[in-house]
Amino acid sequence: MRPWWIDSILCAALSSIAPSGGAAPGGDGYCAWEVQDFAIDQPLCGLRGDPARGRALAADSHGGNCLACHQMPIDEEAFHGTVGPPLHGIGARYSEGQIRLRIVDEQQINPMTIMPGFYSDPAKANRMAGEYWGKTFLTAQQVEDLVTYLVSLK
Ligand code: HEC
Repeated sequence: MRPWWIDSILCAALSSIAPSGGAAPGGDGYCAWEVQDFAIDQPLCGLRGDPARGRALAADSHGGNCLACHQMPIDEEAFHGTVGPPLHGIGARYSEGQIRLRIVDEQQINPMTIMPGFYSDPAKANRMAGEYWGKTFLTAQQVEDLVTYLVSLK
């Protein structure tokens, strides 16, 4: 059992994450990914990320909303959650592929995690309600932007 307050934080965090809209199972928006040695080495859909866009998305409560649960070197935002580990220096601790897997589908590392899989396979998702059905939380481009930003945090 996790303490009750985690659920209220989780609820607040998740309710402000908007579904990306693009991806449907088997549709054009979703690119399959492959895990090897707890990493996804290939960029999603072969896209290249932009670290400045990734930083903005991490702080955006309607985007990744990573700050709801993580402390990050984004000093202009006052609120940083502490549900997840701080992400300072994450680029020195993990490879790019390890960071990508953690954003795409943290449940592959820890099945009990409360961190949402931001690009988990929509065809395998359960407990997805209404507007989230068949969609990923973030687009492949948004995930790659975040990966590039986190890799830069040394
Ligand atoms: C609802 C809370 C929540 C949100 C929102 C969230 N995370 Fe997490 N995250 C966690 C938790 C908790 C962990 C610890 C892993 C576990 O649960 O086993 C984690 C782990 C991680 C890790 C691995 C850190 C380490 O030191 O092992 C990375 C990287 C990460 N998150 C990135 C992100 C990014 C980027 C976003 C925004 C797109 C995000 N997280 C949004 C809760 C969250």
